[in-house]
Amino acid sequence: MRRIAVLNGPNLNLLGTREPEIYGTLTLADIESLIAAYAAERGLEVRYEQYNGEGQMVDALQRLVRWADGIVINPAAYTHYSIAIRDAIAAIGTPVVEVHLSDLAERAKREPFRAISVTADVCIAQISGLGPNSYLRGIDALLAHERLVADLPVHPDRG
Ligand code: DQA
Repeated sequence: MRRIAVLNGPNLNLLGTREPEIYGTLTLADIESLIAAYAAERGLEVRYEQYNGEGQMVDALQRLVRWADGIVINPAAYTHYSIAIRDAIAAIGTPVVEVHLSDLAERAKREPFRAISVTADVCIAQISGLGPNSYLRGIDALLAHERLVADLPVHPDRG
């Protein structure tokens, strides 16, 4: 795994001022700097993209598959209802990890509809509730997935 794309969805461009009691005070640029330092220590090249539109997210996934070995995605609100983004993730065959800053399952703080993700089960993992660290654990999950796949025994039928 050499190249990782970090794709953020709607309203994440407003991080820093957007509901700081839920999403914290770091801006998206701050979070991208944290990711950059983490990735650099691991020799990874990272590309960052953020879109507010559903179609733009689908276009980005279809395009990034030609560049990235793995994708960390925070689909934001689309997590809860975008079959188009789900289908794009399922179609591209590149490992994708879904991440969220907030804990989607935290019933006391988050609305029940946020516990539903239509995208998580086509991803290799969902990481939620760790703030900016969710993105770093997302990178870890991509690296662990790569090791796991490399260690799989070759199926006898495939010689
Ligand atoms: C989010 C959680 C979503 O429910 C919400 O719509 C977001 C951000 C998160 O990172 O916690 O925009 O994906």
